[in-house]
Amino acid sequence: MMNAFSKTEKLEAMLSACTPAETGALREEAEKTRKSHVGDTVYLRGIIEFGNACEKDCFYCGIRKSNSKTERFMMTENEIVDCAKWAFAREYGSIVLQSGELTNSGFVSFVTGLVARIKRETAKADPKGKGLGITLCVGEQKKKVYEGFFKAGAHRYLLRIETSNPELYKKIHPEGHSFSERVRCLKSLREVGFQVGTGVMVGLPGQTIGDLANDLLFFKSIDADMIGLGPYAPHENTPFSSYRREWLEKKKTILQLSLNMIASARVLLKDVNIASTTAFDVLHPRGRELALEYGANVMMPSITPAEFRRKYLLYNCKPCVDEDAEKCRACHAARLNTIGRTIGWGEYGDAPHYFRRTRK
Ligand code: 5AD
Repeated sequence: MMNAFSKTEKLEAMLSACTPAETGALREEAEKTRKSHVGDTVYLRGIIEFGNACEKDCFYCGIRKSNSKTERFMMTENEIVDCAKWAFAREYGSIVLQSGELTNSGFVSFVTGLVARIKRETAKADPKGKGLGITLCVGEQKKKVYEGFFKAGAHRYLLRIETSNPELYKKIHPEGHSFSERVRCLKSLREVGFQVGTGVMVGLPGQTIGDLANDLLFFKSIDADMIGLGPYAPHENTPFSSYRREWLEKKKTILQLSLNMIASARVLLKDVNIASTTAFDVLHPRGRELALEYGANVMMPSITPAEFRRKYLLYNCKPCVDEDAEKCRACHAARLNTIGRTIGWGEYGDAPHYFRRTRK
């Protein structure tokens, strides 16, 4: 049995891969693990970014509360349900409902009602009676609220830890944003019965390889079912915008490091779902394909109506903001075709890890 110290060292070595021989070997190991644990199918989740009002003020994020240059929006229930029905008809097995973080009771009942309605209406149209799989990504909430979301029919929840280093967490968030509260939320989600996803940003100011190795061990320690991680990308109207120049110089390294994180997560966690996230495309035109070739098996094409996309900018140079859902669907299918991966149309595509841990 490897002790914790040598485990961290091994992960750090994997994350430091940079020569073609090193990255090639890592990639091969990750791909071998992916094939044997989750196969060649890529599962799609149509993501609806339904509102950008946010109570949080994270230093890195373009929709932070203090960014007065962002025009705030909230889609109506009918608009969101229309997107969901479109996704269902176009054989997306699942959707992700994501928004800025709000905790008022109006928002909570809006989301709860929305989930119940999407579930009900898509199940009615489904010969199998299951309806769309629903993943929520609406931030830190009370356990009771999570229970309500789960009862309404959402079965997966994404809540990134952002970094597992409490000191670094403090540096990238203002006063009042609490690391331990984030961890508590992850625990509650799990207790409520959700399949739980977490993740980090790679390339944050002040982040070390050691931090990233510990992030991987954190994912393991909370027994995550899903991982969503990607490169940090600056946004001009945030306190971190001054970091842009340094970030530009380090772009290549950050891309490789992010790919190494995906590969190491696959090697360490094996049967979880790992998303190839949109931020990869900021660093490389084939960024998301690369992530899929380093062990990822999930993609989240945007199905947010074009008029709202430009307002949901977490970082600059976000891809596909001028496209619509139909175009994104076709584009994803074509991109996956170029790398010889099949799409799990119409399937939930839950992580085998979830079934394994709940069977015990
Ligand atoms: N660059 C990359 N990812 C970001 N996120 C927020 N801001 C940025 C950024 N500037 C990520 C966070 C959050 C998720 C919804 O988006 O990790 O959890």
